Amino acid sequence: MSTLLRKAYSAASFEQQGYQLISLLAQHLKKSTDHSAMNWIAPEKQMEFWKNDFSSGLLSDPVTLFKEIADRSINVRNPKYMGHQVACPLPLTILSSAFISCLNQSLPIYEMGMVGTALEKIVTDHIKTKFGFGNQSSGIITSGGSLGNLTAILAAKAQFKEKDHPDLVILVSREAHYSIERAAKIAGLPASGLIQLPVNEKFQLQTELLTEVYRDLTLKGKKVLCIVGCACSTSLGVYDDLEAIGSWAREHNIWFHVDGAHGGAAIFSPDYKDLLKGAEQADSIILDFHKLLMAPSLSTALIYRDGKNAKKTFAQEADYLFDNHDKNDWCESGKSTFECTKPMHILNTYMILRTYGDEIYRENIDTLYNLARKFYFMIENDDKFEAALEPMSNIVCFRYKNGNNLNVINHTISKEILLDGSYYIVNTTINGEFWLRVSIQNPFTNESHFKGLLGKIKEIGGKLQEII
Ligand SMILES: Cc1ncc(COP(=O)(O)O)c(C=O)c1O
Repeated sequence: MSTLLRKAYSAASFEQQGYQLISLLAQHLKKSTDHSAMNWIAPEKQMEFWKNDFSSGLLSDPVTLFKEIADRSINVRNPKYMGHQVACPLPLTILSSAFISCLNQSLPIYEMGMVGTALEKIVTDHIKTKFGFGNQSSGIITSGGSLGNLTAILAAKAQFKEKDHPDLVILVSREAHYSIERAAKIAGLPASGLIQLPVNEKFQLQTELLTEVYRDLTLKGKKVLCIVGCACSTSLGVYDDLEAIGSWAREHNIWFHVDGAHGGAAIFSPDYKDLLKGAEQADSIILDFHKLLMAPSLSTALIYRDGKNAKKTFAQEADYLFDNHDKNDWCESGKSTFECTKPMHILNTYMILRTYGDEIYRENIDTLYNLARKFYFMIENDDKFEAALEPMSNIVCFRYKNGNNLNVINHTISKEILLDGSYYIVNTTINGEFWLRVSIQNPFTNESHFKGLLGKIKEIGGKLQEII
C-alpha cells in the first residue's frame, strides 16, 4: 500500500487532529455570543480567496483550514442570527454528526444501516404518536422537507389511475412553500395544476372558498390530487386552519397533506400544539428536525396516516436491493423513499431524545415562540415600526415605517444590515411590499438583542429619511 493512503487513513493522526478540531469547535461555541452574526464577504472576494487557497499547495495541517472556513461563514449560533429557518444545532449533535460520518451507514438497505433503520422506525413512531395517529400509520425519514413534500405528493398521486393524471390539481394556499410547486411539476402536473388559493386577513388559506372551487373544478373534469395545509407558512409563519381543511378533505375524500416542515415541531409544546389541531386528520404530514428541533441538516419525518400508502409510489422490482417478502416491512425503508444512499442522520435526533427527552423540544419551542411575541410587542410599542401581523410562531415580519418610500427605505435597511453583519435578518414580500423578517432560532436570543437590532434599524432609517 502507498505511503499516502497509509498516512491519510492513519488513526493516530486522526486522533491528534480530532483533539485540535474539538478544541477549535469548543472555542467557536464559546465565542458565538461575542461576535457579529456574520462577516459579509462579497461573492467575488470569497471566490478569489478559495481559488487562491485551492492552488496554494497541499495542507500540512488541515485543522487550520476549518478555522478559516468558520471565520468566513455566517454564524448560526450567534444570538443575533435571526435569519433563515436553520437550527442552532445542539453541541451533542456535532459529536453525533462526526460519529455518523465515521460509521458511514447507508440506510435503505437493511444490513448497510441496521441500527439507523431501527432508529428511524422508533423516532417516526414517536412522532406519529405525538400527532395522535393510529396503529395503521407509519413514517419514514427523508433528506429534507422539500423531498418530504415531494414524496407525500407522489404518494397522493399513486392513488389515481394513469388515465386521471392529466386532470389532477393540487389545492394550496398562495403562502405555501415553493417546494410544493416544485413537487407538483416533478409529479408531472402542468402549471395550471397548482391552484394557489387566496388567504384571509390573517394570511390563512380561505377555507370557505373550498367548496365552490371544488365544484368548479369538478365541472371542468378536474380531480383534486391533494390539498396542502401550511403548518406554518415560511414567509409569515402562519398556521392554516388545519381542522377546517381536514374536515373538508375527509368529507370529499381528498388526500390531506400537512407541510409541518417548520411549525410541526409545535406538537411538543402543550402551550402551542393547538396550532396543529386538525393535523391528526392528515393523510400525510412532514416535520423537519433541522429547523426547530435543534438537529443539524438534514432530516425530516414523513408520517402517513395509512402506512400502506408509503410503498405505492416506489413499488418496483429491485431484486439486488430488496428481498421481496413483505414480512418485516419496516426494515426495507428503501421501498418508501426516493433515496438510494441515505446517511444515518436520524442518530442526531435519537441522541437528543435519549439524552434530553421531549422536554428540550418543549422548552425550545416555548422559548422561541414566546420570544417572537416579545419582539412583536416591542415593535408595536415603537412608533417607528409596524408589524405585518401578530406572530403565530417564531417568525415576525415588520418594517421601519418612518418616511415616504417605505419599500426603498426598508430594502436599503435590509442591505445595510447585511453589510454591517452584527445582526442577520432576512426579508419578504407581502402583498407586493417589502418587509423585514426575523425567524428566531436561538433560545439565547433575548430582549437586549431585539433592542440592539431595532436601534440599528432606526439609526440606518433615520439617515435614509434625509436622502430618500
Ligand atoms: C414550510 C416549509 N416547507 C418546506 C420547506 C423545505 O424544507 P427543506 O429546507 O428541509 O427542504 C421549508 C423550508 O424552509 C418550509 O419552510
